[in-house]
Amino acid sequence: MSTDKIPSDEECVRMLWNAGCTKRVVVHCATVRAVAVVIAAGIGGADTRLVSAGALLHDIGRSQTHSVMHAPLGAQIVEANGCPKSLVEIVRKHTGAGLDAEDVRELGLPPGDYMPSTLEEKVVAHADNLVSNDTVVPHRRSVDKLVSKGAQRGADRIEALHRELSGLYGEDLDCMPVLLGAHPKLIPLRKHRRRGISCGTRKSW
Ligand SMILES: [Fe+2]
Repeated sequence: MSTDKIPSDEECVRMLWNAGCTKRVVVHCATVRAVAVVIAAGIGGADTRLVSAGALLHDIGRSQTHSVMHAPLGAQIVEANGCPKSLVEIVRKHTGAGLDAEDVRELGLPPGDYMPSTLEEKVVAHADNLVSNDTVVPHRRSVDKLVSKGAQRGADRIEALHRELSGLYGEDLDCMPVLLGAHPKLIPLRKHRRRGISCGTRKSW
């Protein structure tokens, strides 16, 4: 199967369940997807299928751990499923508004690029900043969380990404909780029968 194939929403949900994600994580991912696709559509120029898949899969690593390691582990899982690099990168780079080299060192993460740079990577990372568990929230919630942990640089980075994407969208993205409601309508999340793998290689873990 082509390495360029972006899995469908249904395939992504099946990957989440197959990886062992809890319902809470799956609902969170679907909520981030609901926000991300609205932002992507409003901005234009972003690949909405890639944004949708990236948003659904961004926390697949939480099937293994809820530490910051869930991002690189999630990228590995998505890669092991034969998904395209563009999708793997979204998952690796979704933490906050990205992690710089100093963060990567301090957090003891495997070396690599954790800074979102493409439009799709930025939209998914920031949609995640606009969702707390299953609730759409203003970006300030994520900023305050980082400030309380002493991660001021990370908080500043979220503010900058919020300004950048709000500018492209043409409206302050804190409109999302009003536009979508705190609990937007989600794609169907029924537990798909465990079978095969979604985007190519037949590999399980
Ligand atoms: Fe998330």
